[in-house]
Amino acid sequence: MCRRGPARRGGSIRSVPALLELERAARSCVACPLASGRTTVVFGVGDPAADVMFVGEAPGHDEDLAGEPFVGRSGRLLDRLVAEELGLEREQCYIANVVKCRPPGNRDPLPLEVATCRHYLDDQVRLVAPAVVVTLGNFATRALLDRTEGVTALRGRTYPYGSGVLVPTFHPAYALRGGGVVTAQMRADLVRAKHALAEARASAGSSAPRDASRGRRP
Ligand code: URA
Repeated sequence: MCRRGPARRGGSIRSVPALLELERAARSCVACPLASGRTTVVFGVGDPAADVMFVGEAPGHDEDLAGEPFVGRSGRLLDRLVAEELGLEREQCYIANVVKCRPPGNRDPLPLEVATCRHYLDDQVRLVAPAVVVTLGNFATRALLDRTEGVTALRGRTYPYGSGVLVPTFHPAYALRGGGVVTAQMRADLVRAKHALAEARASAGSSAPRDASRGRRP
């Protein structure tokens, strides 16, 4: 749970029933062909009142088995970078993907699959209402910003998004392949996300510690 003050009014304990209902719907979803190949629906995990939300592309092999996003090697790198640069543990954030079921052979999700699944992500963003959404990689960045450029061109700044801002960065799998340079750029993007979060908290005028039982201010 987040121990710091929330950035502004957003997701809260009142969102939890709606988020659980959305998850129930997603778990039985057969609206696109990906349903037939999945082991598990990978809906999303984390604090339903998180100030920071990470959005990836789609579950991979490990995630399909575990039912949780970013649990493989790239997830472990993400956890480490988020802890080191944002000072947040995985459980303090909310993590989801654009598409909730694994595409066969880890191919990119098809436009029909994205269009069919998109309402789940939009509802997650609305209910969690994070101050900062961090998109991981080309796919999530293009989908959420509705742009055609890649993340290399789009990263380096923040974008208004929902009730907060969006910070694009590389996919951790790309950082694993790209080595130190990409990882350093990812770190810089996470520092940008940290500053955006601090700004949102400052403008909400909240520095009081959260109620530890709920992760919200008393
Ligand atoms: N890659 C993603 O985009 N999402 C996951 O959950 C795992 C790997």
